[in-house]
Amino acid sequence: MSAKPLAVVILAAGVGSRMKSENPNAAKVMHPLAGRPLFNWVLDTAESLKPERIIPVIGPDMPDLAAACGPHKPVIQKTRDGTGGAVRCALPVLKGFKGNVLIVLGDAPLISAASLKKLIKARESGLLVGLSVLGAAVEDPTGYGRLITRRDGSVEAIIEERDADPKQKKINLINTGAFCVDGGRLARWVEMIVPHNAQNEFYITDLPEIAATEGFLTQSAIASDPSEIVGCNTRADLAALEFLMQQRLRAAAMAGGVTMLDPTSVYLSYDTRIGADTVIEPHVFFGPGVSIGAGCHIKAFSHLEGATLARGCSIGPFARLRPGSKLDEGVRIGNFVEIKKSKIGAHGKINHLAYVGDCTMGPDVNFSAGAITVNFDGFQKHETVIGKNVMVGSNVNLIAPLRIDDGAFIAAGSTITQNVPADSLSIARDVTKIREGWAAEFRKRKAAMAKKMKAKKTDGRKR
Ligand code: UD1
Ligand code: CA
Repeated sequence: MSAKPLAVVILAAGVGSRMKSENPNAAKVMHPLAGRPLFNWVLDTAESLKPERIIPVIGPDMPDLAAACGPHKPVIQKTRDGTGGAVRCALPVLKGFKGNVLIVLGDAPLISAASLKKLIKARESGLLVGLSVLGAAVEDPTGYGRLITRRDGSVEAIIEERDADPKQKKINLINTGAFCVDGGRLARWVEMIVPHNAQNEFYITDLPEIAATEGFLTQSAIASDPSEIVGCNTRADLAALEFLMQQRLRAAAMAGGVTMLDPTSVYLSYDTRIGADTVIEPHVFFGPGVSIGAGCHIKAFSHLEGATLARGCSIGPFARLRPGSKLDEGVRIGNFVEIKKSKIGAHGKINHLAYVGDCTMGPDVNFSAGAITVNFDGFQKHETVIGKNVMVGSNVNLIAPLRIDDGAFIAAGSTITQNVPADSLSIARDVTKIREGWAAEFRKRKAAMAKKMKAKKTDGRKR
């Protein structure tokens, strides 16, 4: 790559009115894509280029976005007067910087580092090349700026959709929005942008024509994969991006040794980690923060977030693992089981209809159907600690805070309110009372009553 120092400006101040958010100040780039903001995908790609500095341009009153910038101090664009206006806001920070300035859009999260490297190379392809623009040849160019090229392939101008004439609208070479500009000239050229378009906004896309007035050329680089260019302006765009991103994430998981019976129905997050030989059945959702060991089986319709599974675990069907779930090796979680902020020891079995929250379980525990930890008293959460090799019977309520020591048995139907010692049996339920013949007597009385009612009705009709 280029030996010249690199700075990256990320344009992210837009509110995205086309997203039709209830909050008019909501930053568009904070909409999540595979579990993390659009902006962070772009930031990640920028960071991978190891630039000298990264300057996010954000709007005022966008605390979430400011926090997402991490160590990169953002500059604030007070009036949203277009992409050219946004770059202008970054100029004071870039004063004296003579390297390459890469300008990327915060709402185009799929652009790859490989394409940006091509873009930097294009900018350095000749002494008179003042800037480069990343283009893409797409089937449907609707909505994007079009690249007007000269015979030698250099870019003469970029025309926005709304300013394009019918002939220009037919051009399918579009502007991805990423530029690489000579840092020594950027400030002067940006100051020369005038609002001449229908929207009275300053367009960064005027730069090729401005550079040409000083005898500098604009070179184009073509994105490695045309799908990289998809930007997010509407909710439909966001869905299209999610579709593309999920395809990439699934392909990467399968390339890493994961079996998916129906990949299109499995939803992954940006950070989902799945070990080799793990099998994923259809309709499984992985929220952020999930790590699955090797050789696990994730059965259909399970929902996992913030969960860590050691190797050889089996989950679902219809299991829900919430943040803080930690499963040791060989744990089995069955249908309609919810786990939250709990550690399940190796080879534990929670096979049906159970809730386990704020609990630490030793190895080899059997937590039977319908058993629950009662962890919330209406004000506070409380912990349950279960030792190893404990048998919790069906439909048991464990009222926390509670300790159950190693090897204890809890009888089915018990509501346990005090600590249970090791190797003991606890039964906390009413004794069964039996009344012989009661049910037969009850049915007889019912039948007699029904007969009487019927007779009354026919009698009435006769009269
Ligand atoms: C822009 C390009 C278009 C290109 C398309 C690619 C311009 C004028 N048009 O159009 O040629 O084909 O991207 O996706 O550049 N932003 C600011 N401040 C502003 C306005 C925008 O920071 O005042 C940021 C937005 O947050 C967004 C990015 O710039 O991340 C692009 O803005 P947007 O309004 O979405 O531009 P497009 O109409 O998509
Ligand atoms: Ca856009």
